[in-house]
Amino acid sequence: MDTTVTYQPIMGRPVRWGLLAAGTIANALAETIRASEGGLLVAVAARDGRRAAGFAHRHGIPRSYEGYDGLLSDQEVDAVYISSTHPFHAEQALACIAAGKHVLVEKPLALTVKDTEAVRDAARSRGVLAMEAMWTRCLPLVRDIVERVRRGEIGVPRSFTAAFTVPFPYDETHRLFDLGNGGGALLDLGVYPVTLAHLLLGHPHDLQVLGSVAPTGADDHVALQWMTQEGAIAQVLCDSQGHGRSRTVIRGSEGWIEVHGQVNDPESFTIHRSGDDAEGEWVPGPREGYLHEVDEFHRCLREGLLESPLVPHADTVAIMTIMESARRELGVRYPQEDEPLHT
Ligand SMILES: NC(=O)c1ccc[n+]([C@@H]2O[C@H](COP(=O)([O-])OP(=O)(O)OC[C@H]3O[C@@H](n4cnc5c(N)ncnc54)[C@H](OP(=O)(O)O)[C@@H]3O)[C@@H](O)[C@H]2O)c1
Repeated sequence: MDTTVTYQPIMGRPVRWGLLAAGTIANALAETIRASEGGLLVAVAARDGRRAAGFAHRHGIPRSYEGYDGLLSDQEVDAVYISSTHPFHAEQALACIAAGKHVLVEKPLALTVKDTEAVRDAARSRGVLAMEAMWTRCLPLVRDIVERVRRGEIGVPRSFTAAFTVPFPYDETHRLFDLGNGGGALLDLGVYPVTLAHLLLGHPHDLQVLGSVAPTGADDHVALQWMTQEGAIAQVLCDSQGHGRSRTVIRGSEGWIEVHGQVNDPESFTIHRSGDDAEGEWVPGPREGYLHEVDEFHRCLREGLLESPLVPHADTVAIMTIMESARRELGVRYPQEDEPLHT
């Protein structure tokens, strides 16, 4: 991992944030940055200037811009949080990077592997921090599970299962179903269990996929399973139209872990070790959601890093590689994916 210091680390003053896009998730991040230690909201930009101004007013942000150019040339913005819908992430990240801004980019960081790599390469050569907003990877509870599995507390990991299902009412104009707006269960929901499976077991040696697509052509129900080189098996399901609680289990040669709560919002876990009593050890975790990813981003900026050791570029690319292979198997193609990025 490249951790070369190529910019002046941000120390002794707040990280000054600009928000690119003012949609649903931007509200949550605005609240989080305000609540964070060391983050300061200085500007927000949206396609519609009145919406940007309203957002700024609601969140007490001093400046708002119509369109994104003003944000890019705002000399007081250190870092940009990009929360547009998926097809715009890569190009907007490249524009921010070219303007010398650090970027926190909503998941998925791009639509394709090629575009994910383009953002990674641009950030490295411009010497700025780029991180996918894969917030679950930064949760203390998830970090604890990963550490315990790596320490061998359940022996050799043998299998992982997780499902993430959210019953969105079918609407061909909703971003979950509109292929032109990055629609698809895999990139939106599947990214969470795929990330966790990849973290705990590793990359596929063999990958199998089943799934269906909505009338718009966007995948709406996908099951994938893979085997790693070491013989561990991951089974992951995502569904944008189904009900059901998530059940995340990691099984090993000497025990197993059951994670309680949704795969993207774990509340606690129970670790069962062979020979222990049947109830196992219950471990609760703090649940401050997005605060942990913002803290991690701030920490990287204080240390002058180009990528987060918690959400390294290699993992972002690897996880996109898994999702892209699955998508290809299902015949799901985004209209933008063959177009060159405008940089
Ligand atoms: N981390 C999480 O827990 C989490 C949760 C939900 C979503 N997300 C991710 O965050 C991103 C945004 O999700 P959201 O629910 O906030 O979406 P949203 O409210 O539907 O849209 C977000 C913004 O994207 C831009 N946008 C939407 N449709 C567009 C179009 N057709 N053309 C150009 N720009 C368009 C708009 O920017 P302007 O404001 O400039 O008009 C809009 O405000 C997605 O990539 C999603 O995967 C993450």
